[in-house]
Amino acid sequence: MKLTHTQAIQTALCLLALAQAGLSHADAQAGAVIAKNGTAGIAACMQCHGGNDVGNAAAGFPRLAGQNVDYLAKQLADFKAKLRTSPLMGPIASALSPTQMKDVADYYASLPGWKPAPGTPPGSALSVRGAQLAQHGNWDKGMPACFACHGVNGAGIAPHFPAIAGQGAVYIANQLKNWQTGARLTDPQGLMKAVADKLSADDISAVSAYLERPTNPAAGATP
Ligand code: HEC
Ligand code: HEC
Repeated sequence: MKLTHTQAIQTALCLLALAQAGLSHADAQAGAVIAKNGTAGIAACMQCHGGNDVGNAAAGFPRLAGQNVDYLAKQLADFKAKLRTSPLMGPIASALSPTQMKDVADYYASLPGWKPAPGTPPGSALSVRGAQLAQHGNWDKGMPACFACHGVNGAGIAPHFPAIAGQGAVYIANQLKNWQTGARLTDPQGLMKAVADKLSADDISAVSAYLERPTNPAAGATP
């Protein structure tokens, strides 16, 4: 069969589209295998990040489901580059290739988005104080609202600002403390370090408790 020039271009474009569709499908599938079964020398991600992809709030293991794909892949690269220190995640991320990082990030990003986790009841003094910081900031200290960067109700603004609502309180508090001590240096502009440095220990407890179980993230209600 002899193709005309136009037919040849059309065929090539069609094959390219098929290849791309197949590739992105394969990426998330390859990521699912790593998440569920692990791979040579790497533990299954779900062992710690939860069988239902919800993380393990009490242990401080974050939920990854529905988080932005670029953010997740960047964090894995950051662990490997030692911009983030974690005795558990450091060795795991170091064992992943850039392709495996992208695949597993694709998989977790494709899972259903976040719901508020169980936790400190809305309306309690701790949660109300946390809501104030998250929604309005603390202008006495020049600290903007968390949601000014993290989007309406903390749902995230891709690709640079991760979702933070519905994340475990222990994990969030650990990250804020890591920025204060310099154990997390993942944010080149230093935005989060500047925010964390303005938070007291009580502020950290309050905002972490609120974010774990926001009042009504879907409707955007205030407490
Ligand atoms: C042994 C437990 C364990 C296993 C297995 C594990 N993780 Fe983690 N992971 C953690 C802990 C603990 C943290 C939080 C580290 C910190 O406090 O900075 C974390 C954090 C992360 C983060 C950062 C999330 C964020 O919101 O910034 C990503 C991404 C991640 N893990 C991906 C993976 C992937 C992908 C795998 C499988 C290849 C995996 N983890 C396997 C314990 C684990
Ligand atoms: C000026 C913008 C800005 C403000 C305000 C801000 N953040 Fe962030 N935050 C960021 C950026 C950028 C990142 C991503 C850093 C990175 O790439 O690791 C981030 C990441 C985070 C993370 C890490 C999420 C994860 O999955 O590991 C937490 C937790 C967080 N912010 C909490 C807060 C809280 C709580 C507040 C309010 C007290 C707040 N942020 C206010 C910019 C901001």
